[in-house]
Amino acid sequence: MSTFDGRGRAPHTVVVGLQYGDEGKGQVVDWLADDYDVVVRFNGGANAGHSVEVAGERFALHLVPSGIVRPGILNLITGGTALDPFLLANEIDQLRARGVEVDGNLRIAATAHLVLPWHREQERRLEALAGGAAIGTTGRGIGPCYADKALRVTAVRAEVLLDEGTLRRRIAEVAPIKEAMLSGLDVAPNRLSDELAAVAERLRPFIGDVTPLLRDALASRRVLFEGAHSSLLDVDHGTYPFVTSSHCTALGVHSGAGVPARAIGRVIGVVKAYTSRVGAGPFPTEITGAPAERLREHGGEYGTSTGRPRRVGWLDVPAVREAVELNGVDGIVLTGLGVLAGLDDAPDPLPAGIDRCRRYADLPAEARALVERLSRDIAPVIAVCVGRGREAVMPIE
Ligand code: IMP
Repeated sequence: MSTFDGRGRAPHTVVVGLQYGDEGKGQVVDWLADDYDVVVRFNGGANAGHSVEVAGERFALHLVPSGIVRPGILNLITGGTALDPFLLANEIDQLRARGVEVDGNLRIAATAHLVLPWHREQERRLEALAGGAAIGTTGRGIGPCYADKALRVTAVRAEVLLDEGTLRRRIAEVAPIKEAMLSGLDVAPNRLSDELAAVAERLRPFIGDVTPLLRDALASRRVLFEGAHSSLLDVDHGTYPFVTSSHCTALGVHSGAGVPARAIGRVIGVVKAYTSRVGAGPFPTEITGAPAERLREHGGEYGTSTGRPRRVGWLDVPAVREAVELNGVDGIVLTGLGVLAGLDDAPDPLPAGIDRCRRYADLPAEARALVERLSRDIAPVIAVCVGRGREAVMPIE
């Protein structure tokens, strides 16, 4: 299947993960981005880690959309996201230091919610107090930030970074409430405001009203929505309470980015040929011991954001099928096939060396049989990935 529709134009498309994250969405977005003009992040924050490999160089993106590594693409971070301004400013600096242009090609919604240092502190305390009921979060302050968004009184939006007076007034309003609610917390509001004012200088050029840009793009350009985290971590539809705090399915695009339901023409699900999960929560196909060690090593299954070793297991077909239904998936990109190569413990062991294949037709029969079975059991597989780079994505013609 071509990545284009029948009229030769790529319809506005959503890419979502159908497992617990880390399926390789960054790679898939980077591959598809060739057909698109705009890439949009609509949910989550720096708890995400999207890896994109370009010409052997690896970029680990957390907040900036994966389209940034391709010249000519407009990247939007919309209001459904949770932004840590300090991490965002650093990410921009790091990209620039590596020669990636970050300028008018990145725009950030003034309505995005800021993750502030007190959110991390709240989360640290909550996780410690929860003991056995802890979620095993990434520690990035995401849950408390979204909780403040729902509470409203203590929320701080990116718009405050546009004006230093507003920023200082808002921090002075919220800081005493946070201090009263969190015993022993010393926010040092003046120092925090100074630090935020410094970071605001760097972020101000990017922040504004992204709605007109998005409307214009929907009308005349091609838009790719990049889901962060994944379906089974969705706050409403995932394995609650062991989920993240945002809407990670294709359903989240509409409120997270502010686009009508009819705008989306296609939903692509990313499925890894096995499963990994970071943090606590159910994992029916989890494996442990030496086979888990081998799978983890083969797949390099360590968190992009935290470096934590991921829990690993085999593909959970019923869970993925449910995610296909929920998201209305049109087609799947199957990643991680190369990891199963030479792994004798796997339910579907594949011959070693398939990571060197560059065309679907060159894959060994065992691999193609697996892909065909998953196409029948889950949803049509439109491409498979045997490695990490752009060239390792093989469309199925
Ligand atoms: P939080 O998003 O930091 O609150 O973490 C909640 C749960 O979601 C934890 O189990 C995290 O490990 C998991 N999680 C959040 N974001 C990601 C991701 O991008 N990849 C994998 N797991 C994630």
